[in-house]
Amino acid sequence: MRLSGEQLERFERDGFLVLPELFSKDEVAALRARLAALFAADDPANIVEKNSGEVRTAMGLHLRDPVFAKLVRHPRLLEPALQILGEAAYIQQVKVNVKPAFVGEVWQWHYDFATHHAEDGVAEPRALNLHVFLDDVTELNGPLYFIPGSQAHGPAPATLDTATTSYPLWVVDRERVTALAAEGGLAAATGPAGTALIFGDLLVHASPGNISPYDRRIFSLILNPPSNAPTTRARPDHKHHRDLTPVVPLADDCLLVPAPA
Ligand code: SIN
Ligand code: MN
Repeated sequence: MRLSGEQLERFERDGFLVLPELFSKDEVAALRARLAALFAADDPANIVEKNSGEVRTAMGLHLRDPVFAKLVRHPRLLEPALQILGEAAYIQQVKVNVKPAFVGEVWQWHYDFATHHAEDGVAEPRALNLHVFLDDVTELNGPLYFIPGSQAHGPAPATLDTATTSYPLWVVDRERVTALAAEGGLAAATGPAGTALIFGDLLVHASPGNISPYDRRIFSLILNPPSNAPTTRARPDHKHHRDLTPVVPLADDCLLVPAPA
């Protein structure tokens, strides 16, 4: 699946692209069926919320589950990503950010490269973040907020926040967010389950807490070119995988084909 010229222009201008219902209801059901067991596992790659103790993010899923192992190689994600990158990519990080009904907590204002650079010594903001909604995401259940065009301003000053949530994150301050939003406005990334997002490493984004009675589970795959590999290895493998093997797409129907017995 190749992106059109118009889609590539929109990605360049806004810093993100929404691909409505890229995955079918059956494909989403196949993915959702894996989640309960993954979230229940006693695994250091499951990180729980500060207040509720519910799973906030479940990482390393392609190494823990055969269906997610196929999703990270899905051509509907990989082909557009490789088209944008213009070179091969390895799997940097794979997770589901959960944000459970009533208790899902915020993700502060940030851009991913601040963490990739400060924690992993990644040189350039080349990584792409590919999301797939595993629930319907609306304005009510904690969608991502993007500042369109914020990527064009380059890396903002960032500081490490270890207090707000259970997940240490390099965050952008309010003055900078206010200035960027005065120029680009804000966009909530919403859509039915199966909708996908692509956004780059410099796009400033956040998401509010989920006080609604509706779960909000979003799959995220970060891809990065091996030429832009980490130079430090302080974080665990599930936060930035050490295997730099270029990822190769599977067949389009891979999620619905049963695994061999
Ligand atoms: C979220 O899951 O709401 C935040 C995801 C991200 O920062 O990429
Ligand atoms: Mn992020």
